[in-house]
Amino acid sequence: MSGRLQGRVAIVTGAGRGFGRAIALAFGDEGADVVVNYHASAGAAAEVVQALEKLGRRAIALKADVARDDDVKSMIDAVRRQFGRIDILVNNAGIMTRGLFHETPVEAHDRMFSINVTGTMLCTHYALPTMMDRRYGRIINLSSQLAQRSVGRGGFAAYAATKGAVEALTRGLAEECGPHGITVNAISPGGIETDMSKAVMTEEYRERRLRELPLRRFGSVDDVAYCAVALASEDAGYLTGQILHPSGGWVMG
Ligand SMILES: NC(=O)c1ccc[n+]([C@@H]2O[C@H](COP(=O)([O-])OP(=O)(O)OC[C@H]3O[C@@H](n4cnc5c(N)ncnc54)[C@H](OP(=O)(O)O)[C@@H]3O)[C@@H](O)[C@H]2O)c1
Repeated sequence: MSGRLQGRVAIVTGAGRGFGRAIALAFGDEGADVVVNYHASAGAAAEVVQALEKLGRRAIALKADVARDDDVKSMIDAVRRQFGRIDILVNNAGIMTRGLFHETPVEAHDRMFSINVTGTMLCTHYALPTMMDRRYGRIINLSSQLAQRSVGRGGFAAYAATKGAVEALTRGLAEECGPHGITVNAISPGGIETDMSKAVMTEEYRERRLRELPLRRFGSVDDVAYCAVALASEDAGYLTGQILHPSGGWVMG
């Protein structure tokens, strides 16, 4: 711990599991107080809060479906009331609906869009005024390597489209928020096992990918948390509209 986020207040959506959990804990380790958003994983979120408190941080778990306007509004209001500020917002909550495009029900694609894209927009929409008032903010969105480059053998088109939208939103918002002292960046991971990617990373897939990946190894949730801490820190103040790629070299440039 080097205290890079000392005194900061961060909201991490979907922070009970996977990348969100790792980011929340890494933020706490760097000194931030953390709001642990969850939707279904109440027990896991409570454990993350406990771990953060053990580190000496203020932490609360707040339930909200990021795809619901009323849920997100209530969550942001609660954070404003209890913490008085929002310095960092990580739009991490997301789902992956996988399947051949023509075979996947339209409602499943709709739900994925509403969580991955509308959810990111709603959280940002409600958090921005507080950041603007304080003339400081760090917004970090979770994209995916699939927004830039296809992997596997199909089944990810709609998911990739949601992340393409997140990347376009990131650039557009960076332009708009810059004059208010707010940076907007994205992290675009690949080749990292979580609950989401478990089913994709079969033995056959692993073998094939390892031969192709420049770094010849898969990553961990800590590789994503590292990027989030870097983008959230004071030192990253001149970085905005950027997409970081912790993907072992699969996506470059
Ligand atoms: N794993 C990968 O390989 C990979 C690669 C690139 C990008 N990503 C992106 O990284 C982010 C995190 O992925 P992950 O791998 O950590 O996934 P994960 O382990 O499946 O976790 C998904 C998280 O999203 C939350 N979530 C889902 N729907 C929600 C909703 N409606 N409202 C609030 N929270 C919701 C879940 O919370 P509850 O359990 O509480 O519902 C959970 O914490 C996602 O945006 C994903 O698209 C993942």
